[in-house]
Formats: sequence, C-alpha cells, structure tokens
Amino acid sequence: MSATPSVSRPVTVPGFRAAKARGEKLAVVAAYDYTSARLAEEAGADCLLVGDSLGMVVQGHSTALPVTLGQIAYHTKCVVRGAQRALVVADMPFLSYQVSPAQAVKNAGRLIKKAGAHAVKLEGGQRMADAVRAVVNAGIPVMGHIGLTPQSVHLLGGFKVQRDAGQLLADAKAVEEAGAFSLVVESVPTDVGAKLTQAVAIPTIGIGAGPSCDGQVLVYHDLLGLFTDFQPKFVKRYADLSSQVRSAIEAYCSEVRDGTFPGPEHGFR
Ligand code: KIV
Repeated sequence: MSATPSVSRPVTVPGFRAAKARGEKLAVVAAYDYTSARLAEEAGADCLLVGDSLGMVVQGHSTALPVTLGQIAYHTKCVVRGAQRALVVADMPFLSYQVSPAQAVKNAGRLIKKAGAHAVKLEGGQRMADAVRAVVNAGIPVMGHIGLTPQSVHLLGGFKVQRDAGQLLADAKAVEEAGAFSLVVESVPTDVGAKLTQAVAIPTIGIGAGPSCDGQVLVYHDLLGLFTDFQPKFVKRYADLSSQVRSAIEAYCSEVRDGTFPGPEHGFR
C-alpha cells in the first residue's frame, strides 16, 4: 500500500489493517491544506493526517495546545478537497475529547459529518480507552496515539522520549481493545517500538519509534525542510525547500525592484 501505489483505489480503514496483515508499510503525511494534500497524495501517501502540529508549523505556537476544533475542521475541509485516494484522519485537539466520552463522540462526529474526515485521531492509552470505545461505537474509526503525547507536554515535563515499556504495552493493548484501527507511536526507544508492533494486530504508525513499525508519519513541513525552527531527532529532511523558497522570493523581489518583472509576456494587449 506504500508509495507509488499500483492501483488508485481509495485507502480505507479495513485496507489499513489489511496492509499490516500483508506486511506492507504505510506512509502517512501530516498535511494541512489543499495543495500539500494533493502533492502528498500524488507522491503516494496512503494517509493524510490533519495534525494539531499545525499549531506549531502553521500558527507559530510553541505547542499544539491552543489549536481549536474549529481550526482542525477548517484545515480538514481543505485537505479533503485535495485528497482523492488517501485516508484523511483529523486530529482531535486538546480538550475536545478528554472531558468525557460523550464530548469525544460529539466532537469526532463534527469532524466526520461537517469537515469530511474519514477517521479521527486522539491521544492517550489506558486513560483514554473509554473515549476511543465510545467514538468507535458511534461508527467513527479511531487512530490512537501513545508514547509522547504532545497534548500532555506539561504533564510529561517536555517533549521527551517515553521509556516505560510496561505502561506503553498496556496503553497499546487498551487502545486496540477499545477498537482503534491503528496506533501512532511517538518517541519511544526502537526496541520498544518493535515490541509494541508485535503485540498488537492493528498497524503501528511510528514517529521516532524505529523501523519495525507498520508505517511512519512525518509532518509535511518537516520532511520538506520548510520548518526550520528546530529539528526533532526523528525528522529526516528529504528536501531543503526553505532555502529554495527564500532564493525564489529573493529573485522575485530583486526583479520587481530592477523592473525585470513583469516582462512583456506577463502583460495583456
Ligand atoms: O499532530 C500531528 O501532526 C501528529 C503526528 C506528528 C503524529 O500527531
């Protein structure tokens, strides 16, 4: 199911689970708008995650905590318009599901019904199992998220690698048992990522969890080298677009100033 797919059938939730059974890796990109969704999908991404990381890379906050449900809904609508084939997963932002399972169902429903997402993601293991179960019981597919859960950054004391293998295993199993169809595993030691992947039948999607995970996720702006404020260890930059963007805009500014742009070919008769 991974990059350069041979068929253009839409990626589905059952297809996600089947990919693990077949040993096919899943490529997930966190994207927030129409153009990036189109590019990522054309390049072969199986799944587009409208992550609350947009709070950092789009909005410029130092954490994802200020992101609202309305903002995720807005960006989800943009991504949905750019996606023909990829599974679109909307991230549930901080305090949109932690209050009660009923709140989780109501807000997940909004992201599906009004924004057009195919599934939602929410953070937390054992502690969030009731919320996962309630959302799944409402017919909404849930992607879990354990390990470093950025919405708990203050509780965790920072964006730190999570090493309690026993708790991580209990979290993974609780989320699977509650009905999640896949599980993001963030910032755990490589051997723990491998153990979690073996322990559950649903696909694990790693970000800083090693190569044994059933898939990987990276943020669009990180993998393209567009976001350069800091680079987490788990990020690989496949391009240096920030330099290219800067030089293109420098060229534009200089052509505007010296009168080379617009040329005759850009004018109307
Ligand atoms: O918000 C996000 O983009 C995420 C992924 C990095 C997993 O949660």
